[in-house]
Amino acid sequence: MFKQWALLVLLVQLVDKSVAVVRFENLKYELNKDYMHGNIFIKSQNDKYSFGADVEMVKKVEGSVIITPHLEHLIKGEYHTMVNIDLDTCKVDPVMSENPIVRTIAKESTKFINFSLMCPYNPGRYLLNDFTLDSESPLLKLIPNGKYKMHLKANHFPTPESTPIMLFMYSIDFELFAVAS
Ligand SMILES: *[C@@H]1O[C@H](CO)[C@@H](O)[C@H](O)[C@H]1NC(C)=O
Repeated sequence: MFKQWALLVLLVQLVDKSVAVVRFENLKYELNKDYMHGNIFIKSQNDKYSFGADVEMVKKVEGSVIITPHLEHLIKGEYHTMVNIDLDTCKVDPVMSENPIVRTIAKESTKFINFSLMCPYNPGRYLLNDFTLDSESPLLKLIPNGKYKMHLKANHFPTPESTPIMLFMYSIDFELFAVAS
Protein backbone atom coordinates (compact mmCIF):
# COMPACT_ATOMS: atom_id res chain seq x y z
CA MET A 1 0.00 0.00 0.00
CA PHE A 2 2.73 2.42 1.02
CA LYS A 3 4.72 1.57 -2.12
CA GLN A 4 1.74 2.28 -4.32
CA TRP A 5 1.31 5.67 -2.71
CA ALA A 6 4.99 6.47 -3.11
CA LEU A 7 4.79 5.54 -6.79
CA LEU A 8 1.71 7.66 -7.28
CA VAL A 9 3.36 10.68 -5.64
CA LEU A 10 6.42 10.19 -7.82
CA LEU A 11 4.28 9.97 -10.96
CA VAL A 12 2.37 13.11 -10.04
CA GLN A 13 5.66 14.93 -9.52
CA LEU A 14 6.96 13.74 -12.88
CA VAL A 15 3.85 14.73 -14.76
CA ASP A 16 3.33 18.02 -12.96
CA LYS A 17 6.69 19.70 -13.39
CA SER A 18 5.35 22.93 -11.97
CA VAL A 19 6.76 23.64 -8.53
CA ALA A 20 5.39 26.40 -6.32
CA VAL A 21 7.84 29.24 -6.01
CA VAL A 22 5.91 31.62 -3.79
CA ARG A 23 5.26 31.98 -0.07
CA PHE A 24 2.49 34.26 1.17
CA GLU A 25 2.19 35.82 4.63
CA ASN A 26 0.79 38.73 6.69
CA LEU A 27 -2.56 39.01 4.94
CA LYS A 28 -4.79 41.86 6.07
CA TYR A 29 -8.05 42.85 4.42
CA GLU A 30 -11.18 44.86 4.80
CA LEU A 31 -14.43 44.46 2.88
CA ASN A 32 -17.14 47.09 2.64
CA LYS A 33 -20.07 45.22 4.21
CA ASP A 34 -22.61 47.28 2.23
CA TYR A 35 -21.28 45.65 -0.95
CA MET A 36 -19.87 42.27 -0.03
CA HIS A 37 -19.08 39.75 2.65
CA GLY A 38 -16.81 36.75 2.76
CA ASN A 39 -13.22 35.77 3.33
CA ILE A 40 -9.79 36.21 1.87
CA PHE A 41 -7.22 33.70 3.09
CA ILE A 42 -3.80 32.11 2.70
CA LYS A 43 -3.51 28.33 2.56
CA SER A 44 -0.38 26.34 3.03
CA GLN A 45 -0.16 22.63 2.42
CA ASN A 46 3.10 20.69 2.28
CA ASP A 47 5.02 23.94 1.87
CA LYS A 48 2.83 24.92 -1.07
CA TYR A 49 1.28 28.33 -0.47
CA SER A 50 -1.79 29.71 -2.13
CA PHE A 51 -4.05 32.71 -1.85
CA GLY A 52 -7.81 32.47 -2.04
CA ALA A 53 -11.05 34.37 -1.71
CA ASP A 54 -14.71 33.46 -1.35
CA VAL A 55 -16.79 36.61 -1.49
CA GLU A 56 -20.48 37.24 -1.99
CA MET A 57 -21.27 40.48 -3.78
CA VAL A 58 -24.63 41.73 -2.55
CA LYS A 59 -24.99 44.83 -4.69
CA LYS A 60 -24.34 45.58 -8.34
CA VAL A 61 -21.20 47.65 -8.89
CA GLU A 62 -21.02 49.86 -11.97
CA GLY A 63 -20.02 53.35 -12.97
CA SER A 64 -16.32 53.48 -12.25
CA VAL A 65 -14.13 51.24 -10.11
CA ILE A 66 -10.61 52.44 -9.48
CA ILE A 67 -8.21 49.69 -8.43
CA THR A 68 -4.88 50.86 -7.06
CA PRO A 69 -2.28 48.11 -6.83
CA HIS A 70 0.93 49.05 -5.03
CA LEU A 71 3.80 46.60 -5.25
CA GLU A 72 7.04 47.07 -3.33
CA HIS A 73 10.23 45.06 -3.51
CA LEU A 74 12.58 44.69 -0.55
CA ILE A 75 16.14 45.55 -1.54
CA LYS A 76 18.86 45.76 1.12
CA GLY A 77 16.35 46.28 3.91
CA GLU A 78 14.30 48.94 2.12
CA TYR A 79 11.07 48.69 0.20
CA HIS A 80 11.12 50.15 -3.33
CA THR A 81 7.95 50.78 -5.31
CA MET A 82 7.68 48.71 -8.49
CA VAL A 83 4.04 49.36 -9.33
CA ASN A 84 1.71 52.12 -8.12
CA ILE A 85 -1.06 52.84 -10.60
CA ASP A 86 -4.78 53.49 -10.87
CA LEU A 87 -6.84 51.23 -13.10
CA ASP A 88 -10.45 51.87 -14.00
CA THR A 89 -11.78 48.35 -14.44
CA CYS A 90 -14.96 49.71 -16.02
CA LYS A 91 -12.83 51.13 -18.84
CA VAL A 92 -9.97 48.66 -19.26
CA ASP A 93 -9.83 44.99 -18.40
CA PRO A 94 -6.74 44.53 -16.17
CA VAL A 95 -5.61 41.68 -18.45
CA MET A 96 -5.10 44.41 -21.08
CA SER A 97 -3.30 46.82 -18.75
CA GLU A 98 -0.39 48.72 -20.24
CA ASN A 99 1.65 47.89 -17.15
CA PRO A 100 3.32 44.52 -17.88
CA ILE A 101 3.48 43.43 -14.22
CA VAL A 102 -0.21 44.22 -13.64
CA ARG A 103 -1.17 42.61 -16.96
CA THR A 104 0.77 39.44 -16.13
CA ILE A 105 -0.63 39.14 -12.59
CA ALA A 106 -4.15 39.73 -13.97
CA LYS A 107 -3.67 37.09 -16.69
CA GLU A 108 -2.32 34.59 -14.16
CA SER A 109 -5.30 35.31 -11.87
CA THR A 110 -7.81 34.44 -14.58
CA LYS A 111 -6.71 30.80 -14.25
CA PHE A 112 -7.99 30.78 -10.66
CA ILE A 113 -11.14 32.92 -10.72
CA ASN A 114 -14.66 32.28 -11.92
CA PHE A 115 -15.58 35.87 -12.76
CA SER A 116 -14.44 38.65 -15.03
CA LEU A 117 -11.99 41.22 -13.69
CA MET A 118 -13.77 43.88 -15.66
CA CYS A 119 -16.74 45.75 -14.19
CA PRO A 120 -19.75 45.79 -13.94
CA TYR A 121 -19.75 43.38 -10.99
CA ASN A 122 -23.10 41.70 -10.58
CA PRO A 123 -24.34 40.28 -7.30
CA GLY A 124 -23.16 36.70 -6.80
CA ARG A 125 -20.40 34.55 -5.46
CA TYR A 126 -16.84 35.38 -6.50
CA LEU A 127 -14.19 32.71 -6.04
CA LEU A 128 -10.42 32.87 -6.24
CA ASN A 129 -9.28 29.27 -5.97
CA ASP A 130 -5.79 28.63 -4.64
CA PHE A 131 -3.86 31.27 -6.56
CA THR A 132 -0.21 30.33 -6.66
CA LEU A 133 2.80 30.80 -8.89
CA ASP A 134 4.88 27.97 -10.24
CA SER A 135 8.27 27.83 -11.88
CA GLU A 136 6.64 28.26 -15.31
CA SER A 137 4.91 31.51 -14.41
CA PRO A 138 5.63 34.38 -16.83
CA LEU A 139 5.72 36.73 -13.83
CA LEU A 140 9.10 35.27 -12.86
CA LYS A 141 10.56 36.74 -16.04
CA LEU A 142 9.38 40.22 -15.04
CA ILE A 143 10.26 40.47 -11.37
CA PRO A 144 13.28 39.04 -9.55
CA ASN A 145 13.24 36.62 -6.63
CA GLY A 146 12.94 38.25 -3.25
CA LYS A 147 10.46 39.70 -0.80
CA TYR A 148 7.50 41.86 -1.76
CA LYS A 149 4.60 43.75 -0.24
CA MET A 150 1.43 44.05 -2.22
CA HIS A 151 -1.29 46.47 -1.23
CA LEU A 152 -4.47 46.81 -3.25
CA LYS A 153 -7.35 49.18 -2.80
CA ALA A 154 -10.60 49.32 -4.78
CA ASN A 155 -12.80 52.41 -4.76
CA HIS A 156 -16.21 52.76 -6.31
CA PHE A 157 -17.49 55.94 -7.95
CA PRO A 158 -21.16 55.24 -8.80
CA THR A 159 -21.21 58.52 -10.76
CA PRO A 160 -18.30 60.72 -11.87
CA GLU A 161 -19.18 63.29 -9.18
CA SER A 162 -19.42 60.83 -6.28
CA THR A 163 -16.88 60.77 -3.51
CA PRO A 164 -14.96 57.48 -3.52
CA ILE A 165 -16.51 54.57 -1.63
CA MET A 166 -14.01 51.94 -0.50
CA LEU A 167 -15.09 48.53 -1.83
CA PHE A 168 -12.28 46.49 -0.35
CA MET A 169 -8.59 46.58 0.38
CA TYR A 170 -5.97 44.01 1.19
CA SER A 171 -2.29 43.79 1.82
CA ILE A 172 -0.12 40.71 1.64
CA ASP A 173 3.58 39.93 1.76
CA PHE A 174 5.06 37.36 -0.54
CA GLU A 175 8.40 35.90 -1.32
CA LEU A 176 9.48 34.51 -4.67
CA PHE A 177 12.25 31.97 -4.59
CA ALA A 178 14.03 29.77 -7.05
CA VAL A 179 13.62 26.02 -6.96
CA ALA A 180 16.44 23.71 -7.82
CA SER A 181 15.29 21.45 -10.64
C1 LIG B 1 -18.54 30.91 -9.07
O1 LIG B 1 -18.67 29.62 -8.47
C2 LIG B 1 -19.65 29.56 -7.41
C3 LIG B 1 -19.57 28.17 -6.77
O2 LIG B 1 -19.71 27.18 -7.73
C4 LIG B 1 -21.03 29.87 -7.98
O3 LIG B 1 -21.98 29.84 -6.96
C5 LIG B 1 -20.99 31.25 -8.61
O4 LIG B 1 -22.22 31.55 -9.25
C6 LIG B 1 -19.87 31.36 -9.66
N1 LIG B 1 -19.78 32.76 -10.06
C7 LIG B 1 -19.83 33.14 -11.33
C8 LIG B 1 -19.73 34.62 -11.55
O5 LIG B 1 -19.93 32.36 -12.25
